[in-house]
Amino acid sequence: MPLIVCFFTCILLYGLSHFIERSFEKYSVAQNIAELHSVIESIEREISYYDPQEDRENLIQNILLILASHNRLLVCIVDEQNNILYKTRGPNLLLTRNKLNYHSIISKQKTAIWNYNHHSYRVAASDFLTLKGKKYTTFIAIERDYQIEFINRLHDGLILLIFIACLLTLFGTLLTIYITQKPINRLIKIIESVNSKSLNYRIPINTVPVKYISLIKAFNNMLSRMEFVFQRQSNFTADIAHEMRTPITNLTTQTQIALNNARTTSEYKEVLYSHLEEFERLSQTITDMLFLAHADNKLLKPELSDIDIVKMFTAMFDYFEFIAEEKNIKLELKGHCHLMQGDKLMINRAIGNLLSNAIEHTPIDGTITVNVNQINQKTIKIVIANPGKEINKKHLPHLFDRFYRIDESRHRNGQGAGIGLAIVKSIVEAHNGTITVESDKASTRFTMIFPISQIKISKFYQTKK
Ligand SMILES: Nc1ncnc2c1ncn2[C@@H]1O[C@H](COP(=O)(O)OP(=O)(O)OP(=O)(O)O)[C@@H](O)[C@H]1O
Ligand SMILES: [Mg+2]
Repeated sequence: MPLIVCFFTCILLYGLSHFIERSFEKYSVAQNIAELHSVIESIEREISYYDPQEDRENLIQNILLILASHNRLLVCIVDEQNNILYKTRGPNLLLTRNKLNYHSIISKQKTAIWNYNHHSYRVAASDFLTLKGKKYTTFIAIERDYQIEFINRLHDGLILLIFIACLLTLFGTLLTIYITQKPINRLIKIIESVNSKSLNYRIPINTVPVKYISLIKAFNNMLSRMEFVFQRQSNFTADIAHEMRTPITNLTTQTQIALNNARTTSEYKEVLYSHLEEFERLSQTITDMLFLAHADNKLLKPELSDIDIVKMFTAMFDYFEFIAEEKNIKLELKGHCHLMQGDKLMINRAIGNLLSNAIEHTPIDGTITVNVNQINQKTIKIVIANPGKEINKKHLPHLFDRFYRIDESRHRNGQGAGIGLAIVKSIVEAHNGTITVESDKASTRFTMIFPISQIKISKFYQTKK
């Protein structure tokens, strides 16, 4: 960048200096031409006043007076026979007749350059007829050496100036970059030092220049997100290990006990049934983990078909009826909605998880209410509400996290692993929907909102139960 700035400064200054030089040259040429012609006019006025033959002395006297106020001028006045009427000392201007295109400069305002004896002159010439009809030609030249010298010096001076200006620009740009880069370099060092063990580090906003504050805020936010994901990932790994270890320990212990003494066939059968239960639980956990891993990698691809949500709930109620009856729990379905598009198996699984949770947390004789509603032509809202203990507000944001259980001891008693709601959330999100939870003394409510995506049949279904 400094070189680019320097290059353009150089071009700009060079163009400027060229313009200054040319302007000065034009101005001095115009001045010379004006001076030459004004002297020619004055001399011709004198010749018309004093007859060159009769009053030659007075004429010469006046010409000398005219020339006295002009420096570096050469004059030569000749008649038609080339007899010199007057000539200043120095180079003979009559020589220009042969060298220059005499006729082209004889007209007024025209001049020519004449180089003679290492000097340069600007030459003008003019023919003049006296009253008696005699023709005189005036040659006049002004020396240009000082002008050329001045322009050359000006040129050298400007080049030196350009060189210095470019150096200063280069230095200034480098200095600016260094000053502005300094905090960035510091940030780079800090960023380089961040690793998986220091993801909790945040760059203090007050130590960075104002213009970088939004960048640092974004970076700190990114660190927060990374820390969260990293933390979740490492908890997840620990939880999986724990989840696998418990049933395997159970299996090992049971096997060891079974092997310690001789057993009857029915006792071995009992042990094997117990093993089968553990294996099934283990297999279910692994399937769930794989399902969540698929969801994480955005590999959940719902196989879309039209789903009649009301019908699905009705079927689910039949399925859970038996368990619900154990606690004398009533299941109620209200509302109606369009058919929605979704993956039947996935939606079924999500609803099943939510209902099994609801039944588990509803006290004896309670009523679970499912409300299905069409919010608008494009959206369906499903609320599953169950009475029971209010969930503390601090748990609510984590309820959909994997392996999150409010009551840890519950799991030790061989109940839920804490991934049911995580699976529900993955399914809902795979259908571009949302799920939220609210809880108060009256009930705990899970609200799912699904887009219908494509309305194929605009038919409303009435509640059956
Ligand atoms: N309807 C509900 N009422 C009250 N608490 C609930 C309800 N649903 C879930 N919870 C709480 O949320 C936690 C997480 O639920 P989740 O379904 O993810 O796990 P789980 O039921 O414990 O185990 P899993 O579903 O894996 O067998 C539960 O441990 C429970 O404390
Ligand atoms: Mg559950």
